[in-house]
Amino acid sequence: MVDVVLGLQWGDEGKGKIVDVLTPRYDVVARFQGGPNAGHSLEFGGNKYVLNTIPSGIFHEHCINIIGNGVVVDPVQLKKEIEKAMTTGVDIKKNLYISEKAHVILPTHRLVDAASEAHKGEHKVGSTLRGISPTYQDKIGRSGLRIGDLLDPNFNEKYAQVVANHKKLLDSFNYEYNLSDHEPAFFEAVEFLKQFKIINSEYYVNSLIKEGKKVLAEGAQGTLLDIDFGSYPFVTSSNTITGGACSGLGIAPQHINKVYGIFKAYCTRVGNGPFPTEQENETGEKLRKLGHEFGATTGRPRRTGWLDLPTLKYAIMLNGVTDLICTKSDVLSGFEEVLVCDGYDMNGKTTSEIPFDLSRKDILPLYRSFAGWTEDLTKIRNYQDLPATFKTYMDYVEAQIGVPVNVISVGPDREETIMK
Ligand code: GDP
Ligand code: IMO
Ligand code: MG
Repeated sequence: MVDVVLGLQWGDEGKGKIVDVLTPRYDVVARFQGGPNAGHSLEFGGNKYVLNTIPSGIFHEHCINIIGNGVVVDPVQLKKEIEKAMTTGVDIKKNLYISEKAHVILPTHRLVDAASEAHKGEHKVGSTLRGISPTYQDKIGRSGLRIGDLLDPNFNEKYAQVVANHKKLLDSFNYEYNLSDHEPAFFEAVEFLKQFKIINSEYYVNSLIKEGKKVLAEGAQGTLLDIDFGSYPFVTSSNTITGGACSGLGIAPQHINKVYGIFKAYCTRVGNGPFPTEQENETGEKLRKLGHEFGATTGRPRRTGWLDLPTLKYAIMLNGVTDLICTKSDVLSGFEEVLVCDGYDMNGKTTSEIPFDLSRKDILPLYRSFAGWTEDLTKIRNYQDLPATFKTYMDYVEAQIGVPVNVISVGPDREETIMK
């Protein structure tokens, strides 16, 4: 049995925290796509941790953590992450498994990412510059290197061949770089990773399923950043939806049971691209301040706005969400009124469907207003103790989307969670 946890907005919905909260119920946590563009935060025991590539089940001793074939791995970044996690006493050698089919982010992938974004100028995506898009391009273009290649005695030759292509590309962008600044750390990290379990993860995960083990597939980014269904071209380069768990881990669709969809009680986005309910005003500033909305990976301020039900319903449809989880509810305390977008006016017509181009200029969000609440929600642990005004707001959201909200997160810590 496999359950999936994923984000329903533009990422940073609180997946790290929720996976950590759910992990005691699972034997395995497996990341299925994305790479170190992700930043998943977890808090417990007064400490905060940010994971980029390592699955968020790593702090639970019983849990097997798999980096699936759909993930792109930067050895340098992963080495740093492993070393940091090891300082907490976590047994990475025992509990971390890396798919031999996961693609490798090379130093030149990162350079090409930077060069390509610079070349796009004002049309840039606002990439995290972690080399994600160039690595997935090489995967699809059938010229990438995989983790299994690191073990090949001819790895250096294979590496040189791919890098030669990247150099041509960098020259075409007139991009200045010094590869020798990056290569020593890369080759050191490659050697470092060889001591960990590099495996055929599709056989492994399927054998675990056969044994009756419970698997939680952890998504990165969010549905509105999905390469097919997100706000293209302002998206990431992988399938962030439930379907991505099948191709990114090698599990058949019939094994998928629950799909936990996470949404923030409002919306945020990092990087460029359309955001219909964005509040570029005092309200947005207040949301950013109270929600500490600064990127876990890049530190960039996140754009903020009200909850957008049309995109949320779209995400729920695409993912087959069975259980909803609302995070950051506590951040809305102290707003006199809370707005929810329940449709768009497009060229005089009301709709709740997502148009082909979400960037079109004539989209006007239609809002419903709810009375706010002043109570601090962070200490509340039972649903019935939540303020009536909050419940009115959440009941409306639930009724509009037709899927139950089973978990309400009221703070970043593990403990700050209400199971309904
Ligand atoms: P992820 O990428 O989906 O794992 O989310 P991030 O970790 O990038 O961003 C979510 C941020 O919100 C992190 O700083 C979390 O610690 C924090 N967070 C998660 N849930 C809650 C919550 O319910 N309330 C508050 N105030 N913060 C939360
Ligand atoms: P988590 O897993 C928020 C955004 C970037 C950029 C676009 C493409 O923490 O939710 P990329 O580096 O993938 O080529 O960037 O996607 N982006 C994210 N935004 N959370 C993330 O991950 C993101 N990963 C990528 O800001 O707009
Ligand atoms: Mg994040």
